[in-house]
Amino acid sequence: MDRLYDKLVSYAGKDFYPMHMPGHKRNPDLMKMPDPYLLDITEIDGFDNLHQPEGILEDLSCRISRLFGSGSAFPLVNGSTAGIMAAISAATCRGDKVLVARNAHKSVYNAIMLMGLKPVYYYPQLIDGSSIFGGISVAEIEELLINNPGIKAVIITSPTYEGIASDVKNIAAAAHRHKALLIVDEAHGAHFGFSSAFPETAVRLGADLVIQSLHKTLPSFTQTAVLHSNCDELNGKIRKYLSCYQSSSPSYILLTGIDRCISLLEERGGQLFDSFYIRLRAFYESVSDLVRISLLDDDIIGKASVYGRDPSKLVVRINNADLNGHQLQDILRSRHYIEMEMAAIDYALGISTIADSEEGFLRMDKALHDIDNSCASADDGNNRISVNLNAVIKPERLLLPSEAADHKSEIVSIKKAVGRVVATAVSLFPPGIPLVVPGERLDADMIDFISHMKYTGFTVTGLAGRDYEGIEVLLL
Ligand SMILES: Cc1ncc(COP(=O)(O)O)c(C=O)c1O
Repeated sequence: MDRLYDKLVSYAGKDFYPMHMPGHKRNPDLMKMPDPYLLDITEIDGFDNLHQPEGILEDLSCRISRLFGSGSAFPLVNGSTAGIMAAISAATCRGDKVLVARNAHKSVYNAIMLMGLKPVYYYPQLIDGSSIFGGISVAEIEELLINNPGIKAVIITSPTYEGIASDVKNIAAAAHRHKALLIVDEAHGAHFGFSSAFPETAVRLGADLVIQSLHKTLPSFTQTAVLHSNCDELNGKIRKYLSCYQSSSPSYILLTGIDRCISLLEERGGQLFDSFYIRLRAFYESVSDLVRISLLDDDIIGKASVYGRDPSKLVVRINNADLNGHQLQDILRSRHYIEMEMAAIDYALGISTIADSEEGFLRMDKALHDIDNSCASADDGNNRISVNLNAVIKPERLLLPSEAADHKSEIVSIKKAVGRVVATAVSLFPPGIPLVVPGERLDADMIDFISHMKYTGFTVTGLAGRDYEGIEVLLL
């Protein structure tokens, strides 16, 4: 069996191009650091304490909030995951009602479970003919706020993994009209606000709490993120919950990764984002002649409540090719040495950042043309699956997630689970959006969909038993 270190070193020497996070893209020309062991310390004199910052880490927080334009910023070493959980916990009290756009990351559902919250779900539409979620409708959010009085917080994801941005400004206004806070999971939008090529950041659009993963779309180490607060009165509670959800020994390697990323943006952000934009434009221009596959583009704006689109997400859609997203991802890896971020039913997704090289974009361009020319057209196939997805995404809820957590459970074969209520969330990973959450009933369509995805080679998390053929359900 390979050892992790040897395997990583060997992989680093290979010629795979990373169209995936972390956003530093292992680019040694952009990010340099001495041997990490030399920098790995603990809270010794002069180096402050992340959980009670008053020196160099307090200064780092101030630099971040200045750069992004937020009221206060909390640097994170446990990813947006910790930031989202702290934001939801700080904005609510046990048992509160929250309005949640259902295409949320699992950290949202975990916070709901731990805080005993009562979620009201908003189901975003899919973009026509695809399995990609559209944006969030302001009118529908307002209607849900009217029909469900007493909602304490509205929780949305904008942009999504695929770079779909919602009308955050008007959603914030709607939330505030109904005395609810707006929490925006902007994990995929840490680069917003640095160039007019991208949608505006929620930090500057009236959201109360915004969480960004620095590591996804900026040059920073995995796990680094930031929670922005425009709500001073919540800051004490945020700090209290961050000490629950983050390590009591925050890594100085990760913290210095945040510091380096912020310094780079302070010193060279303008120039780096300008060059990035030029590369992106040239790339989109060059791939505009693809036929069987194509890049998601601004044509979707205005449809399915899509308000804006992040062009740094390279969403390669399958229009008329005898491939699914997973197969496209495999071809890019095996024939072109490009590693993508994720694959879904009908597309594969690459993440590009300011750390990408010209060579990386050229390789992607050439690979996509090559695949477009060589693949056969499809007779039917991919679209049928996305129609099924539409049918299965609204499971019936019998118990709250917190109530489900207190029940006894058993593992049964997936095939025998029709009608049972799940004890563990089941998600496609990535992106980690649950298809079904604890307390919800499995119907035959959902089971068919989960089985189909598993056998088509997609990673389904939350299954149990040998070969993940089982599922944990409640004994009610
Ligand atoms: C939409 C969304 N929110 C939150 C997260 C969690 O971010 P992190 O990996 O920084 O904890 C992810 C992770 O992929 C995500 O896709």
